[in-house]
Amino acid sequence: MKIIESIEKLRAEIRNWRENRQTVAFVPTMGNLHDGHLQLVERAKTVADRVVVSIFVNPLQFGVNEDFNQYPRTLQQDAEKLEVLQTDLLFYPQVAELYPRGMTDLTKVIVPNSLKETLCGRSRPGHFDGVVTVVNLLFQLVQPDKALFGLKDFQQFLVIQRMVADLHIPVEIIGVPTVRETDGLAMSSRNQYLNPEERQRASLLFQTLQTIQQQLLQGKTDTIALCAQAIVQLQQHDFKVDYVAIRRQQDLATCTSTDKSLIILVAARLGTTRLIDNLLCQL
Ligand code: PAF
Repeated sequence: MKIIESIEKLRAEIRNWRENRQTVAFVPTMGNLHDGHLQLVERAKTVADRVVVSIFVNPLQFGVNEDFNQYPRTLQQDAEKLEVLQTDLLFYPQVAELYPRGMTDLTKVIVPNSLKETLCGRSRPGHFDGVVTVVNLLFQLVQPDKALFGLKDFQQFLVIQRMVADLHIPVEIIGVPTVRETDGLAMSSRNQYLNPEERQRASLLFQTLQTIQQQLLQGKTDTIALCAQAIVQLQQHDFKVDYVAIRRQQDLATCTSTDKSLIILVAARLGTTRLIDNLLCQL
């Protein structure tokens, strides 16, 4: 596996593949790779001739009081895991390589309000603009045929799909189901911030989603009451709940009684760690 830090070398490598008519699948990450990321890479290998993974902790998508500095950076271990999977190329740019003119006066991509002023976007202002700005930039550099994202970050997935549609970027976006620990906790690099006691309690998030899913499947229709009940239960276990919501899968709009493809989403803090998860529900 080649590890490349410069845009120039990345472009040369990809040009070479393209001249040989090879297709490219791309997995953008912020590193600290767990099985969820590795599933994306495994899947990427099945949909294209070449696989590029990027590791870039993108400062643009972190708020001032968020964990940019603390975010785990584990290049050595990540590279070893990618090597085992026979990844073709790891793109590992420094901040100055991607944003040579700084970040305050940068050309950015702006997510439509309908998608970003709700759920995580509401409590993390600027986050999704930062995500799509870097993903667009990476797409310009890698020019992949396909790009793979985890469905744990469902709002991110929709925001990226929408960007690709609105900007007519010729890349197919593939969503890959969430990978879970044995107790149901969705895999996330942030899980390692949890102390052992918090880690035990964290599986309640998935149990809460499952309970709501069962209630919906049993025909309960008062979505506001279901969410309110779930919030109280999580609060009883000392979660600081950001939201529990039942939305329409296709666009995260408030669902009506005619909607059949739903998604249940949760975001909550355990101690200082913010966790998110979701569960699809087909009525
Ligand atoms: O999901 C992530 O790891 C990041 O938000 C992404 C898509 C790599 C953009 O920095």
